[in-house]
Amino acid sequence: MFRGEPTAYWTVNLGFAFFLITQLYGIANARLIVLPGNTIAIHYYLAFFGWIGFLIMGAQLQFFRAMASVRKYEPTFLRFLFLFTLLIGIGILIMVESLELRFYSFIGLLVYFLGVIIHFYWLYHYQPKKYFKLPLDHFFVAQAFFLSGVIILLLKSLEIRPFVFVERNIVTHIFVFGWITITLEGALIRILPMFVGKRIAPSQKKRLNYHLSFRILSSLLVILSFSSTFQFLTAITSLIWFGIWLWTLYILAKSILTTKGTLQHYVSLLFFLPGLFWFTFGMVVGIFLVIIPNISFYLVIRRLHIHFSLLAGLSLIMLGAYHRINAFQTFTLLYTGKTTDRTELILLREKRMSFTAIGLNLGVLVVLIGFIIDDFTLVGFGGLITFIFTLVFGTSIGQNILEYLKNKKDALPYYLKPSEATKPRTR
Ligand code: HEM
Repeated sequence: MFRGEPTAYWTVNLGFAFFLITQLYGIANARLIVLPGNTIAIHYYLAFFGWIGFLIMGAQLQFFRAMASVRKYEPTFLRFLFLFTLLIGIGILIMVESLELRFYSFIGLLVYFLGVIIHFYWLYHYQPKKYFKLPLDHFFVAQAFFLSGVIILLLKSLEIRPFVFVERNIVTHIFVFGWITITLEGALIRILPMFVGKRIAPSQKKRLNYHLSFRILSSLLVILSFSSTFQFLTAITSLIWFGIWLWTLYILAKSILTTKGTLQHYVSLLFFLPGLFWFTFGMVVGIFLVIIPNISFYLVIRRLHIHFSLLAGLSLIMLGAYHRINAFQTFTLLYTGKTTDRTELILLREKRMSFTAIGLNLGVLVVLIGFIIDDFTLVGFGGLITFIFTLVFGTSIGQNILEYLKNKKDALPYYLKPSEATKPRTR
C-alpha cells in the first residue's frame, strides 16, 4: 500500500511537536527560560520517547505498510490505544518530573511501554512472507532493542534488583547503539538513496545480510562492555562498532554515486549531509571519552558528544526524512485516485525548506560552540535560533496538516488502492 496511513501520519507529526518541546526544555536547561521541575530529566524523556520515539515508530509503520502491503493496522481499537498510551505515558512522565515525584515515573513508563508493545506486535503480526527484507529486518531488530531498554528503565523505576543498579547511561546506549543506529542504518541504506532518486548499489547487495549481522553483534558487544568496568573493552568494542558505521556510509556513498538516475531533491541533502557528518563526529567524540581515561573537561566533552550526535546529527537527518514523509503522506492520503493539480513537490516547499535547513544548521552550530566554550547563555541562544527555524519548518508541515484536515472527507479511504477507487469497500 503505497499510501499514507493516518496512525503513522499522526505519530510522526506528534514526534515533530515533541521536537519543539524538547528544544524548549533544552533552552530551560541552559537557563535562558524557566520551566518547573527536573528539566534535564524531562528534556531526556522528550528527546528519546517523544521526538525520536514517535518519529521512528511512525516512520516504521509507514514504510512497513508500503513494503509489506499492509492494508490496515488492526484491530482498529489498537490504533487508538497505541497513540493514547504513548501520549498519556509521556504526559505522566513530564508531570511526574515537573512535580519532582520521580517515584511515580514507573506509571508513565508502564503506560508508554504498552504503546511500544502494540507497535512491536504489528511489526511481528504483519511481517511479510519474505522476512527478513531490508529495511524491515532492521526495524524489527531495532524495536527489540528499544523494547528491552524501556523494560529495563521500567524495572529500574520499580526498584527491582538487579536492574536498580543499571545506570541510565547504559539504557541510553541501548537506545543509541541498538534502536536508533539500526533503524537509521536500515533507512540510510534502503530509503535515503531512493529519496534522492537513486537505489542500492547492486555491488553492495549481497553483503547487506552480513552488514546487519555484524551490526547486531557489534551493538550487543558495545552495550555489554558499557555495563562492565573494563574501559579497555569499551574502547575496543566502540571502535568495532564505529568501523561498521563507516561501512554503512560506504554503502550509502556507493549507492548515491554509482547507481543510475539523476540526483534529485538537493534540499534533502542539506539536512542529510551535515547530519551524517555531525553524527559521525559525535561518535568520534564519544570514542575519545572511552579511549582517554580520566579525560579532563569530562562534562563538557560529554555534553558535546550528546549534542553532536543527537541534536546536530540525528535530529537533522530525522528532519530531512520527516519533511519528505509528511509530504508523501499528505499527498497520497488526499489525492490518490483523484485528478488534481496538486503535486507532492508543491507540498515539499523546497525553497522554504532550504532556508530552514541553513538556519537549523546555523542554530545547532551555535549550540555546539556554546557547549565547547562552556557558555550556557550561548547554548540557550543557539537553542533559540534552532527553535525559531524549527517553527519556520513547522509552517510547511502545518499547512500540509491543515490541507489534510480540510480535504480528508473527500479523499479515497486510506486503506483502498487507486484501482479500488470506484468500488469502495466498507471494511
Ligand atoms: C536547541 C536545542 C537544545 C538545547 C539548547 C539543549 C541543551 C541542553 C542542556 C543545556 C543540557 C544539560 C547539560 C548538562 O547540564 O549537563 C542538555 C542535556 C541533554 N540533551 Fe539537550 N539540548 C537541545 C536539544 C537536544 C536534542 C534534540 C536532544 C536529543 C535528540 C538532546 C539530548 C540531550 C540529552 C540526552 C541530554 C542529557 C540528559 C541527561 O544528562 O540525562 N538535546 N541539553
